[in-house]
Amino acid sequence: MSYLDELFGLHGKTAVVAGGAGAIGTVMSEALLQAGARVAIWSRSQESVDKALERMAGVAGSDNKVVGMQVDTGSEELVEKGLQETVSLFGTPDILINGVGGNIGKAPLIEQDMELFDKVLHMNLTAGLMIPTKVFGAYWIKNKVKGCIINLTSMASYNPLSGVWAYDAAKSATLNLTMASANEFAKYGIRVNAIAPGFFLGKQNKHLLIDKDTGEYTDRGKAVLAHTPYGRFGDVMELAGATVFLASDKAAGFITGISVPVDGGYLVHNI
Ligand SMILES: NC(=O)c1ccc[n+]([C@@H]2O[C@H](COP(=O)([O-])OP(=O)(O)OC[C@H]3O[C@@H](n4cnc5c(N)ncnc54)[C@H](O)[C@@H]3O)[C@@H](O)[C@H]2O)c1
Repeated sequence: MSYLDELFGLHGKTAVVAGGAGAIGTVMSEALLQAGARVAIWSRSQESVDKALERMAGVAGSDNKVVGMQVDTGSEELVEKGLQETVSLFGTPDILINGVGGNIGKAPLIEQDMELFDKVLHMNLTAGLMIPTKVFGAYWIKNKVKGCIINLTSMASYNPLSGVWAYDAAKSATLNLTMASANEFAKYGIRVNAIAPGFFLGKQNKHLLIDKDTGEYTDRGKAVLAHTPYGRFGDVMELAGATVFLASDKAAGFITGISVPVDGGYLVHNI
Protein backbone atom coordinates (compact mmCIF):
# COMPACT_ATOMS: atom_id res chain seq x y z
CA MET A 1 0.00 0.00 0.00
CA SER A 2 1.36 3.44 -0.92
CA TYR A 3 1.98 6.14 1.70
CA LEU A 4 -0.96 8.16 0.34
CA ASP A 5 -3.24 5.11 0.45
CA GLU A 6 -2.15 4.43 4.01
CA LEU A 7 -2.85 8.03 5.07
CA PHE A 8 -5.99 8.83 3.10
CA GLY A 9 -7.38 5.48 1.92
CA LEU A 10 -10.87 4.59 3.18
CA HIS A 11 -10.82 0.90 2.23
CA GLY A 12 -13.09 -1.13 4.50
CA LYS A 13 -15.04 1.96 5.61
CA THR A 14 -18.73 2.56 4.98
CA ALA A 15 -20.12 6.05 4.53
CA VAL A 16 -23.70 7.30 4.56
CA VAL A 17 -24.07 10.49 2.55
CA ALA A 18 -27.35 12.15 3.54
CA GLY A 19 -28.34 14.55 0.77
CA GLY A 20 -25.98 12.48 -1.37
CA ALA A 21 -27.88 13.23 -4.57
CA GLY A 22 -27.34 16.99 -4.26
CA ALA A 23 -24.70 19.08 -6.02
CA ILE A 24 -22.24 18.81 -3.13
CA GLY A 25 -23.38 15.40 -1.82
CA THR A 26 -22.70 13.80 -5.20
CA VAL A 27 -19.12 15.07 -5.25
CA MET A 28 -18.55 13.97 -1.66
CA SER A 29 -19.98 10.52 -2.43
CA GLU A 30 -17.73 10.20 -5.45
CA ALA A 31 -14.67 11.29 -3.44
CA LEU A 32 -15.35 8.74 -0.68
CA LEU A 33 -15.92 6.02 -3.26
CA GLN A 34 -12.69 6.86 -5.10
CA ALA A 35 -10.83 6.72 -1.78
CA GLY A 36 -12.06 3.15 -1.28
CA ALA A 37 -15.15 3.47 0.94
CA ARG A 38 -18.52 1.82 0.38
CA VAL A 39 -21.12 4.54 0.03
CA ALA A 40 -24.83 4.64 0.79
CA ILE A 41 -26.45 7.64 -0.86
CA TRP A 42 -29.53 8.86 0.96
CA SER A 43 -31.98 11.30 -0.56
CA ARG A 44 -35.60 12.23 -0.16
CA SER A 45 -36.76 11.34 -3.67
CA GLN A 46 -36.18 8.06 -5.49
CA GLU A 47 -35.69 9.96 -8.74
CA SER A 48 -32.72 11.89 -7.34
CA VAL A 49 -31.27 8.70 -5.83
CA ASP A 50 -31.46 6.99 -9.25
CA LYS A 51 -29.73 9.92 -10.97
CA ALA A 52 -26.91 9.92 -8.40
CA LEU A 53 -26.46 6.16 -8.83
CA GLU A 54 -26.21 6.58 -12.59
CA ARG A 55 -23.39 9.07 -12.08
CA MET A 56 -21.62 6.78 -9.56
CA ALA A 57 -21.75 3.87 -12.03
CA GLY A 58 -19.07 5.69 -14.03
CA VAL A 59 -16.67 5.86 -11.08
CA ALA A 60 -13.81 3.36 -11.25
CA GLY A 61 -14.16 0.55 -8.69
CA SER A 62 -17.75 1.42 -7.81
CA ASP A 63 -19.10 -2.12 -8.47
CA ASN A 64 -21.04 -3.38 -5.44
CA LYS A 65 -19.73 -0.47 -3.42
CA VAL A 66 -22.57 2.00 -3.76
CA VAL A 67 -26.27 1.83 -2.94
CA GLY A 68 -29.01 4.42 -2.97
CA MET A 69 -31.88 4.75 -0.54
CA GLN A 70 -34.89 6.98 -0.25
CA VAL A 71 -34.62 8.42 3.26
CA ASP A 72 -36.18 11.63 4.57
CA THR A 73 -33.71 12.77 7.22
CA GLY A 74 -36.37 15.02 8.75
CA SER A 75 -38.00 11.92 10.28
CA GLU A 76 -36.27 10.16 13.16
CA GLU A 77 -38.19 6.99 12.41
CA LEU A 78 -37.13 6.97 8.74
CA VAL A 79 -33.48 7.68 9.62
CA GLU A 80 -33.55 4.73 12.09
CA LYS A 81 -34.98 2.56 9.32
CA GLY A 82 -32.41 3.82 6.78
CA LEU A 83 -29.60 3.07 9.21
CA GLN A 84 -30.85 -0.49 9.79
CA GLU A 85 -31.13 -1.05 6.02
CA THR A 86 -27.62 0.30 5.49
CA VAL A 87 -26.26 -1.96 8.23
CA SER A 88 -27.90 -5.01 6.69
CA LEU A 89 -26.55 -4.22 3.21
CA PHE A 90 -23.09 -2.91 4.02
CA GLY A 91 -22.42 -3.46 7.73
CA THR A 92 -21.94 -0.71 10.27
CA PRO A 93 -21.38 2.75 8.80
CA ASP A 94 -18.24 4.55 9.99
CA ILE A 95 -18.82 7.92 8.33
CA LEU A 96 -21.90 10.17 8.22
CA ILE A 97 -22.01 13.15 5.86
CA ASN A 98 -24.79 15.57 6.81
CA GLY A 99 -25.31 17.04 3.34
CA VAL A 100 -29.02 17.82 3.51
CA GLY A 101 -29.69 21.55 3.34
CA GLY A 102 -30.05 24.58 1.16
CA ASN A 103 -31.70 27.95 1.00
CA ILE A 104 -35.07 29.00 -0.38
CA GLY A 105 -35.71 32.65 -1.20
CA LYS A 106 -34.53 35.95 0.17
CA ALA A 107 -36.59 38.71 1.77
CA PRO A 108 -36.37 41.75 4.04
CA LEU A 109 -36.90 40.62 7.63
CA ILE A 110 -40.30 42.30 7.98
CA GLU A 111 -41.55 40.47 4.88
CA GLN A 112 -40.27 37.02 5.85
CA ASP A 113 -42.83 34.26 5.25
CA MET A 114 -42.76 32.38 8.55
CA GLU A 115 -43.83 29.03 7.08
CA LEU A 116 -40.87 29.23 4.71
CA PHE A 117 -38.63 30.27 7.62
CA ASP A 118 -39.61 27.11 9.55
CA LYS A 119 -39.17 24.97 6.44
CA VAL A 120 -35.60 26.20 5.79
CA LEU A 121 -34.69 25.88 9.47
CA HIS A 122 -36.07 22.34 9.56
CA MET A 123 -34.27 21.33 6.36
CA ASN A 124 -30.86 22.65 7.42
CA LEU A 125 -30.86 22.07 11.15
CA THR A 126 -33.34 19.33 12.06
CA ALA A 127 -33.01 17.20 8.91
CA GLY A 128 -29.54 18.53 8.01
CA LEU A 129 -27.88 17.82 11.33
CA MET A 130 -29.85 17.07 14.46
CA ILE A 131 -31.81 13.90 13.60
CA PRO A 132 -29.06 12.00 11.72
CA THR A 133 -26.49 13.01 14.37
CA LYS A 134 -28.78 11.81 17.18
CA VAL A 135 -29.56 8.48 15.51
CA PHE A 136 -25.99 7.70 14.35
CA GLY A 137 -24.49 8.96 17.63
CA ALA A 138 -26.75 6.68 19.66
CA TYR A 139 -26.00 3.71 17.40
CA TRP A 140 -22.24 4.30 17.46
CA ILE A 141 -22.09 4.79 21.23
CA LYS A 142 -24.14 1.62 21.81
CA ASN A 143 -21.98 -0.41 19.40
CA LYS A 144 -18.66 1.19 20.40
CA VAL A 145 -17.98 2.49 16.89
CA LYS A 146 -15.52 5.36 16.56
CA GLY A 147 -17.49 7.09 13.86
CA CYS A 148 -16.89 10.31 12.02
CA ILE A 149 -19.39 13.02 11.07
CA ILE A 150 -18.90 15.77 8.51
CA ASN A 151 -21.46 18.60 8.59
CA LEU A 152 -21.96 21.31 5.98
CA THR A 153 -21.44 24.77 7.37
CA SER A 154 -21.35 27.86 5.14
CA MET A 155 -20.02 31.39 4.91
CA ALA A 156 -23.29 32.25 6.70
CA SER A 157 -21.99 30.31 9.73
CA TYR A 158 -19.40 33.05 10.30
CA ASN A 159 -21.05 36.22 9.01
CA PRO A 160 -24.72 36.66 8.16
CA LEU A 161 -25.66 36.80 4.49
CA SER A 162 -28.37 39.37 3.83
CA GLY A 163 -32.03 38.41 3.57
CA VAL A 164 -31.68 34.68 4.25
CA TRP A 165 -32.81 34.65 7.88
CA ALA A 166 -33.48 30.98 8.44
CA TYR A 167 -30.39 29.94 6.49
CA ASP A 168 -28.22 32.29 8.59
CA ALA A 169 -29.78 30.95 11.80
CA ALA A 170 -29.39 27.32 10.76
CA LYS A 171 -25.83 27.61 9.50
CA SER A 172 -24.52 29.52 12.52
CA ALA A 173 -26.18 26.81 14.62
CA THR A 174 -24.52 24.13 12.48
CA LEU A 175 -21.10 25.56 13.34
CA ASN A 176 -22.03 25.79 17.02
CA LEU A 177 -23.43 22.24 17.14
CA THR A 178 -20.42 20.87 15.25
CA MET A 179 -18.26 22.11 18.13
CA ALA A 180 -20.73 21.08 20.85
CA SER A 181 -21.29 17.55 19.50
CA ALA A 182 -17.53 17.11 18.89
CA ASN A 183 -17.00 17.91 22.56
CA GLU A 184 -19.76 15.58 23.76
CA PHE A 185 -18.77 12.66 21.50
CA ALA A 186 -14.99 12.93 21.98
CA LYS A 187 -15.00 10.48 24.89
CA TYR A 188 -16.46 7.83 22.57
CA GLY A 189 -13.81 8.46 19.91
CA ILE A 190 -16.41 9.94 17.55
CA ARG A 191 -15.09 12.90 15.56
CA VAL A 192 -17.36 15.71 14.33
CA ASN A 193 -16.10 18.28 11.84
CA ALA A 194 -17.54 20.42 9.08
CA ILE A 195 -16.73 21.76 5.65
CA ALA A 196 -17.72 25.37 4.93
CA PRO A 197 -18.04 25.79 1.17
CA GLY A 198 -17.75 29.35 -0.09
CA PHE A 199 -19.87 30.16 -3.12
CA PHE A 200 -20.47 27.28 -5.49
CA LEU A 201 -23.17 27.51 -8.11
CA GLY A 202 -25.75 25.02 -6.86
CA LYS A 203 -29.48 24.59 -7.30
CA GLN A 204 -30.11 26.53 -4.10
CA ASN A 205 -28.25 29.73 -4.95
CA LYS A 206 -27.82 29.78 -8.73
CA HIS A 207 -30.59 32.29 -9.38
CA LEU A 208 -29.49 34.53 -6.53
CA LEU A 209 -26.10 34.81 -8.22
CA ILE A 210 -26.88 34.56 -11.94
CA ASP A 211 -29.89 36.19 -13.56
CA LYS A 212 -31.96 33.39 -15.07
CA ASP A 213 -33.14 35.50 -18.00
CA THR A 214 -29.90 37.23 -19.02
CA GLY A 215 -27.29 34.75 -17.70
CA GLU A 216 -25.40 37.77 -16.27
CA TYR A 217 -24.19 37.95 -12.68
CA THR A 218 -26.77 39.54 -10.36
CA ASP A 219 -25.69 42.39 -8.07
CA ARG A 220 -25.36 39.78 -5.33
CA GLY A 221 -23.23 37.58 -7.63
CA LYS A 222 -20.96 40.56 -8.40
CA ALA A 223 -20.72 41.39 -4.69
CA VAL A 224 -19.71 37.81 -3.85
CA LEU A 225 -16.98 37.80 -6.50
CA ALA A 226 -15.71 41.20 -5.35
CA HIS A 227 -15.50 39.76 -1.82
CA THR A 228 -13.66 36.57 -2.89
CA PRO A 229 -9.90 37.06 -3.23
CA TYR A 230 -9.77 34.27 -5.86
CA GLY A 231 -12.30 36.28 -7.93
CA ARG A 232 -14.37 33.27 -8.98
CA PHE A 233 -16.98 30.85 -7.73
CA GLY A 234 -15.79 27.48 -6.51
CA ASP A 235 -15.99 24.26 -8.47
CA VAL A 236 -17.70 21.56 -6.38
CA MET A 237 -14.85 19.16 -7.23
CA GLU A 238 -12.71 21.38 -4.99
CA LEU A 239 -14.57 19.92 -1.99
CA ALA A 240 -13.29 16.38 -2.60
CA GLY A 241 -9.92 16.81 -0.86
CA ALA A 242 -11.34 18.22 2.38
CA THR A 243 -13.93 15.41 2.43
CA VAL A 244 -11.37 12.60 2.17
CA PHE A 245 -9.01 14.33 4.61
CA LEU A 246 -11.64 14.79 7.34
CA ALA A 247 -13.07 11.30 6.78
CA SER A 248 -9.69 9.61 7.23
CA ASP A 249 -8.93 8.51 10.79
CA LYS A 250 -5.25 8.38 9.93
CA ALA A 251 -5.01 11.85 8.39
CA ALA A 252 -7.44 13.63 10.75
CA GLY A 253 -7.59 11.30 13.77
CA PHE A 254 -6.78 14.06 16.28
CA ILE A 255 -9.00 16.66 14.61
CA THR A 256 -12.47 17.30 15.92
CA GLY A 257 -14.83 20.28 16.21
CA ILE A 258 -13.42 22.27 13.30
CA SER A 259 -14.98 23.71 10.18
CA VAL A 260 -12.72 23.82 7.11
CA PRO A 261 -13.48 26.75 4.80
CA VAL A 262 -13.12 25.94 1.09
CA ASP A 263 -13.89 29.44 -0.07
CA GLY A 264 -11.23 31.05 -2.30
CA GLY A 265 -10.38 33.30 0.65
CA TYR A 266 -13.89 34.73 1.20
CA LEU A 267 -13.47 34.66 4.99
CA VAL A 268 -10.13 36.47 4.92
CA HIS A 269 -11.21 39.21 2.54
CA ASN A 270 -10.29 42.70 3.73
CA ILE A 271 -10.20 46.16 2.16
N1 LIG B 1 -23.91 25.09 -3.01
C1 LIG B 1 -23.27 25.98 -2.23
O1 LIG B 1 -22.72 26.98 -2.72
C2 LIG B 1 -23.19 25.77 -0.74
C3 LIG B 1 -22.41 26.66 0.01
C4 LIG B 1 -22.32 26.49 1.39
C5 LIG B 1 -22.98 25.45 2.01
N2 LIG B 1 -23.74 24.58 1.25
C6 LIG B 1 -24.43 23.54 1.99
O2 LIG B 1 -24.07 22.27 1.46
C7 LIG B 1 -25.19 21.38 1.62
C8 LIG B 1 -25.52 20.79 0.26
O3 LIG B 1 -25.85 21.85 -0.64
P1 LIG B 1 -26.11 21.61 -2.20
O4 LIG B 1 -25.72 22.85 -2.91
O5 LIG B 1 -25.51 20.30 -2.62
O6 LIG B 1 -27.70 21.53 -2.21
P2 LIG B 1 -28.62 20.60 -3.13
O7 LIG B 1 -29.98 21.20 -3.06
O8 LIG B 1 -28.01 20.38 -4.46
O9 LIG B 1 -28.59 19.20 -2.32
C9 LIG B 1 -29.30 18.96 -1.16
C10 LIG B 1 -29.98 17.61 -1.31
O10 LIG B 1 -30.66 17.30 -0.09
C11 LIG B 1 -31.90 16.69 -0.42
N3 LIG B 1 -32.81 16.86 0.69
C12 LIG B 1 -33.44 18.00 1.11
N4 LIG B 1 -34.18 17.74 2.20
C13 LIG B 1 -34.01 16.41 2.48
C14 LIG B 1 -34.49 15.55 3.49
N5 LIG B 1 -35.34 15.99 4.45
N6 LIG B 1 -34.11 14.25 3.49
C15 LIG B 1 -33.26 13.78 2.54
N7 LIG B 1 -32.76 14.55 1.54
C16 LIG B 1 -33.13 15.86 1.53
C17 LIG B 1 -32.35 17.43 -1.68
O11 LIG B 1 -33.32 16.67 -2.40
C18 LIG B 1 -31.03 17.58 -2.43
O12 LIG B 1 -30.78 16.45 -3.27
C19 LIG B 1 -26.30 22.21 2.23
O13 LIG B 1 -26.28 22.07 3.63
C20 LIG B 1 -25.93 23.61 1.86
O14 LIG B 1 -26.48 24.57 2.71
C21 LIG B 1 -23.87 24.73 -0.10
